[in-house]
Amino acid sequence: MEKGVLRKNRDKLMKNLEDNSMVILFAGSAPKKSADEMYEFTPNRNFYYFTGIEEEDHIMILTKFKKEVKEYLFLKEIDEDEERWSGKTLRKEEGIEISGIENGLYLNELEGFLNKTFNGQEEMNIYLDMERDSFSELDTIVGRFANGIIEKYPYLRIKNVYPKIVPLRLIKSDEEVEEIKKAIDITIEGVKSLMKNAKVGMREYELEAFFDFTCKSNGIRDYAFKTIAAAGKNATILHYADNNCEIKDGDLILFDLGAQYKYYNGDISRTFPVNGKFTDRQKEVYEAVLRVNEAVIKEIKPEVKFLELNKKARTMIAEECKKLGLIKAEEEVSKYYWHSIGHSLGLDTHDVDSPDRDTVFKKGMVWTVEPGIYIEEEGIGIRIEDDVLVTDTGVEVLTKNMIKSIEDIENYMSKN
Ligand code: GLY
Ligand code: MN
Ligand code: MN
Repeated sequence: MEKGVLRKNRDKLMKNLEDNSMVILFAGSAPKKSADEMYEFTPNRNFYYFTGIEEEDHIMILTKFKKEVKEYLFLKEIDEDEERWSGKTLRKEEGIEISGIENGLYLNELEGFLNKTFNGQEEMNIYLDMERDSFSELDTIVGRFANGIIEKYPYLRIKNVYPKIVPLRLIKSDEEVEEIKKAIDITIEGVKSLMKNAKVGMREYELEAFFDFTCKSNGIRDYAFKTIAAAGKNATILHYADNNCEIKDGDLILFDLGAQYKYYNGDISRTFPVNGKFTDRQKEVYEAVLRVNEAVIKEIKPEVKFLELNKKARTMIAEECKKLGLIKAEEEVSKYYWHSIGHSLGLDTHDVDSPDRDTVFKKGMVWTVEPGIYIEEEGIGIRIEDDVLVTDTGVEVLTKNMIKSIEDIENYMSKN
């Protein structure tokens, strides 16, 4: 991301913080996988949002005293022996160049800096990213850091910066939308490639490989999430990702996948018949899901509440399930549909959201729309997922170049 955008992100955050505050964000580090092998590193997304830096171990610190903001980057210390094995780490000048943060230091200077800043203060706010998915989530570097400094400087007040970051990340800048569009366009190319190459008798992973090849050939280094390639009944398991079954004649296959471009994600689901022709029943169910997909997309505009939209979508799906002869009363719909209609999309696939998901749509938000109907007893699971950008009056469908009508799918597959 451009320095100017990163600087704007930092300015917006600091404008909302009171005097006598410090924000500390950590890039994080990759956990151990096995023996001397580590999992692949991916930067903490909040750290990345403000710094554009994608290497591990670095720290960003922003301070605000007497309304004046100062910015610091503490970079991992240079270890020339280690660099002969793993490559060079960022130098001060490079960190400053990428982020636009003017003060570059190394981590061996951190303790002295903190002591100098804290010492003599009556009280001070330390804003850390304390986001936690569950009570039992393992302690992170942030938790250990918080405990460590409170022990040494008990007059410091630890605060959670995460709720201040959420409203910023929810609204995407034009530059962010561009990155998301690139991720989506490559994802679309990948889906088209696997549709072209689909053949009865393949394994799910063989078809997935066409998506992987397209991504890699377009410079994609990582995915938005583990690809779901689910044929027949497997598609009725929402997060099925074994992708190792044979695809039989007459099966629909559900692909839910996304490329990640500069850490921004695409998230698309498409379902199609591997032999190129929908059966009558598959058509009926597909049309039902498609009607909901299109109706929900039309509902989204500024000031619409996500939770209300979610409820409305559930009712629409229930009505479709009644017409399909699956249920008689709306309450029974959870047998065939049990997820929500969408989520925000950005630096994370399930991107930042308001507490309790009570987001009100605003211009600049990017959201997925992903209705589905999953009928285990018929071996049919269908989800149709698009990504939309909220505009002044409605949405721009970012995935509009990905075919989705039955006619277009059948034509595309017969031509290829
Ligand atoms: N594949 C994750 C999602 O669509 O939300
Ligand atoms: Mn998805
Ligand atoms: Mn999704």
